Amino acid sequence: MKRSAATLGQVHYATSRNAWLGYPGYVQDMIIRSGARHVLELGGGANPAIPLEFLREHGVEYTVLDISPTELAKAPAGYHKVCGDIGAAELAFEGIEGRHDLVFSKMLAEHVKNGEQMHRNVFRLLAPGGKAIHYFPTLYAPPFVANRLMPERVADRLLQWLEPGREKDGNKGKFPAYYSWCRGPTHRQFARLQGLGYVVDEYIGFFGHHAYYRRIPGMRNLHRWFSSWLVEHPFPTLTSACYVVLSKPVETITMIKA
Ligand SMILES: C[S@@+](CC[C@H](N)C(=O)[O-])C[C@H]1O[C@@H](n2cnc3c(N)ncnc32)[C@H](O)[C@@H]1O
Repeated sequence: MKRSAATLGQVHYATSRNAWLGYPGYVQDMIIRSGARHVLELGGGANPAIPLEFLREHGVEYTVLDISPTELAKAPAGYHKVCGDIGAAELAFEGIEGRHDLVFSKMLAEHVKNGEQMHRNVFRLLAPGGKAIHYFPTLYAPPFVANRLMPERVADRLLQWLEPGREKDGNKGKFPAYYSWCRGPTHRQFARLQGLGYVVDEYIGFFGHHAYYRRIPGMRNLHRWFSSWLVEHPFPTLTSACYVVLSKPVETITMIKA
């Protein structure tokens, strides 16, 4: 993983090859290292990211929040499931505010209409010193720009053609994507998150979309080469996905306007 001159905190770059499969382990590692006991997964839907055995072994109280009761119903029994919209301005915080050591998401953020509101809500859900981790696709990687511009039905068909196993694999169809606040490690993105009170611990930008070009051999090789080149010569606006690790400071100062 390439480390950039980290004027913007801990920024690293890598190809997207292991990003998807590596994410549950990355979160589990954080749970172990931080000793998190109260963990909330956002948009876990049908596929909660952390296995029940791991949660039992490490004594973790785990909740899966999702906007869709249908998706939650597909998740295995044994998970504590809550239905709600993490992007809602009027999220009901009673009993859950400031309670979580770790709040994380996997492929959720791009589906939330108002990214700023989502990050604000997560900040309130975190205990002081708690951490948030998000894994999301980013603009302006070309396939995601196309996804945003195309009519939903066309994007759906294209996705099925590029990734035929997608429906069976567990992503269970496609959810509308908005990409609000889904960007690589740009100055603007840092300013936005820090403006809400977060400390940015780590921002890993991934290049390429390794699952997409399996069906186009020439493109696949060119794409591999270009992704590796970008890791060495990174443009934060061209990442295809990111892991972002944020901390809520132990002491926060509320700013009020004069
Ligand atoms: C692409 S799926 C990802 C599911 C799972 N995290 C995974 O990686 O397989 C996106 C999930 O986010 C949920 N979702 C979309 N918007 C949401 C919101 N505003 N609040 C909570 N969940 C939301 C969807 O219902 C869906 O389960």
